[in-house]
Amino acid sequence: MSYARSAIARIAGYVPGEQPQGKPLIKLNTNENPYPPSPKVIAAAREFDFARLRLYPEPSARIVREAAADLYGFTPEHVICGNGSDDLLTIALRTFVDQGGKLAFTTPSYSLYPVLADLQGAACQPVELDSDFNLPANAAELAGDAPLFILARPNAPTGTNTPKAGVRELCRQFPGVVWIDEAYVDFSDDDCLDLAREFPNVVVSRTLSKSYSLAGLRLGLAVANPALIQEMNKVRDSYNVDMLTQVIGAAALRDTDAMRTNASRIVATRAWLAAELTRLGAEILPSAANFLFAKPLRPAADVFADLRVRGFLVRYFNLPRISEYIRITIGHQADMEAFAKAFAECGR
Ligand SMILES: Cc1ncc(COP(=O)(O)O)c(C=O)c1O
Repeated sequence: MSYARSAIARIAGYVPGEQPQGKPLIKLNTNENPYPPSPKVIAAAREFDFARLRLYPEPSARIVREAAADLYGFTPEHVICGNGSDDLLTIALRTFVDQGGKLAFTTPSYSLYPVLADLQGAACQPVELDSDFNLPANAAELAGDAPLFILARPNAPTGTNTPKAGVRELCRQFPGVVWIDEAYVDFSDDDCLDLAREFPNVVVSRTLSKSYSLAGLRLGLAVANPALIQEMNKVRDSYNVDMLTQVIGAAALRDTDAMRTNASRIVATRAWLAAELTRLGAEILPSAANFLFAKPLRPAADVFADLRVRGFLVRYFNLPRISEYIRITIGHQADMEAFAKAFAECGR
């Protein structure tokens, strides 16, 4: 017997990647950035006047919205902030999807999406990506009458970037809201912000967890037509972004040079590792993110376990279409060289 709603009692809930405590593992399992945040961001945190914490934060995270608007070429009215982009995805479900309604999302993709549908008491309308993990041409049709369609671009866990023309077509054809989750966009060559400018039904979400090296801070952003933002603001917890996060997050968005330097180092290491693992017999999907999705010659579950014994924690998903792959977050070049040695011992 459970006291919870039946929709909650019957599900397992989302299982985040492991955060090993005290074990000396090189952590390549949750797509964190191996480099620290920029010195200006650390200085902003140090200069923060903690006496201010007796007050509530500015409810809309105005300084963050202003910094994001300047960076992306929108107005602050086009921006909403969340306690990580996961918070914004929860807000999206509660804003756009009725209990008993439907959520459309591409699959295989971020495993949180179906969990969010479950939590809302909504049904899942998965839209299968094609054999190259790209959006099918009839995606809008496959999504049926769902009011919300979530698509990660670059995709997780595959790292692939579905062609933008297909995403634009989806935005044009789909009658509901199209949510483009751009958590990994700073490691990619292009983005979809222009679609949020062009279409009234398009939301683009971003996070400071990956490229800005601030996963521990919890700050996400979404950009959309102000009419959509206003509706989401009704659902958002009044103080969902704390005062310290606002100060640090705004400093990060105003210092993109450091972020871009780190992102390009990661992209260079990604290319190096992809070539190395290919040489070792693995099949590597083209990645536009800060991780590689690799199909080793040996069974992926075994390689995952053997890498762990050698001190490397990667991610393995025992799920349809992706159970033959491991996902490897790109770390420092030196760590990846050590990783490639371990992979040479157990990956083939
Ligand atoms: C596709 C995708 N979207 C969103 C997130 C969550 O990001 P945040 O840390 O902003 O909640 C992740 C994290 O792994 C992700 O892979």
